[in-house]
Amino acid sequence: MRFNTIAVTGGFSFDPETGATNPPLHLSNAYQFKSAEHAANLFDLTEAGHIYTRLHNPTTDVLEARLAELEGGTAAVATASGHAAEMMLFLELCGAGDEIVASNRLYGGTMNIFAATLPKYGIRTSFADQNDPAAWEALVTDKTKLFYMECLANPDSGIPDFDGIIAVAKKHGIVVVIDNTFATPYLFRPIDVGANLVVHSTTKYLCGNGTVMGGAVVDLGNFDWAAHAKRYPDFSTPDASYHGVVFAETFKDTALATRLRLKALRDMGATPSPFNSYLTLMGIQTLPLRMARHVENAYRVALWLSTHPKVKSVSYPGVLGHAQHELAKKYFPKGPGGLFTFEAQDYDTAKRVIESVKLCLHAANLGDTRTILTHPASTTHRQSSPEKLGTMGISREMVRVSVGIEDADDIIEDLAQALG
Ligand SMILES: Cc1ncc(COP(=O)(O)O)c(C=O)c1O
Repeated sequence: MRFNTIAVTGGFSFDPETGATNPPLHLSNAYQFKSAEHAANLFDLTEAGHIYTRLHNPTTDVLEARLAELEGGTAAVATASGHAAEMMLFLELCGAGDEIVASNRLYGGTMNIFAATLPKYGIRTSFADQNDPAAWEALVTDKTKLFYMECLANPDSGIPDFDGIIAVAKKHGIVVVIDNTFATPYLFRPIDVGANLVVHSTTKYLCGNGTVMGGAVVDLGNFDWAAHAKRYPDFSTPDASYHGVVFAETFKDTALATRLRLKALRDMGATPSPFNSYLTLMGIQTLPLRMARHVENAYRVALWLSTHPKVKSVSYPGVLGHAQHELAKKYFPKGPGGLFTFEAQDYDTAKRVIESVKLCLHAANLGDTRTILTHPASTTHRQSSPEKLGTMGISREMVRVSVGIEDADDIIEDLAQALG
């Protein structure tokens, strides 16, 4: 099936028992076993089925199947939030003494995980310029467990040199993780550039209306864990907590997703509510329609702002003249997302804009149907040092605009009155 069809039918056609045309909301923590043997088989992983909602739930199963299909992957694990997905993945792939190489342009919260939280567990992250593959290669050691970048970096939608960086990862047999929150698989599929795992904050465009939190990791099934047993021994050695199962052998192209579910989710318990999975599924049905409108509106609003006398600069790779416009056309033929930043002429103007908009919201979120303005330096990236803000290209005059699906003319009129 094609993308628009998967968005409405992926993982679910109709309920065979009741005929219901939407996935039933299964608010049940446990599932009746057929026999003692059936229960034992489920716990031994020799038979698939539901045991307990911390691990899996029939409503969440549909969300996971749909996400995996949209991304072209083999399996997905849904989580309570985007950060839960990130933490589970990092702690599953890395232990004390291991290393990560990450882009130096990331969501502030993710930056915080790398710079402040993971070091407490002995996991060290080095940061590199996302357009300088040689800088990534220089940081690789035999302890490097993953490369991490965002498809369009938060906040200014900067585009990494995917081909260059992924070539380095392949040369050294390192797993590549792309946070695809900003683009969603409608605009960009990490599998097409050779990434191995996708992280999502489904809180944003996938759910799409700013109602429920959620996250996911999608296993693209294209990393040969057994062939890289030296770097990733956990996948090829018997697991003591599951009677000696060897994940790379038993689960092959879903080995990572299976470990995440059976170990990270089991231990950390960052399970999504089935109700949140249900609402996210409803949101995904209209993803293609919304993303197309987000892109169209972002282009119009960015273009208008770039001619305003009180605006110093606009960073939207979709606009001709942006330094990454060619890269945007190459990797994002349908448009580089619905979000951009602009720099007002001074801090007072930036402050006045976010305080005087009437239609647009001033909030710390993105990917909503509503247009949202955020001041990264005082909110989403507040925990970053002034030097770090500098390397991320974030200034005090910068405003992030997550363009909604309202009429572009109304958004423009609102910004015009706020700029004064
Ligand atoms: C690019 C990106 N990744 C991950 C996250 C974290 O997701 P969540 O807020 O769902 O935990 C965010 C949150 O803003 C984000 O912008």
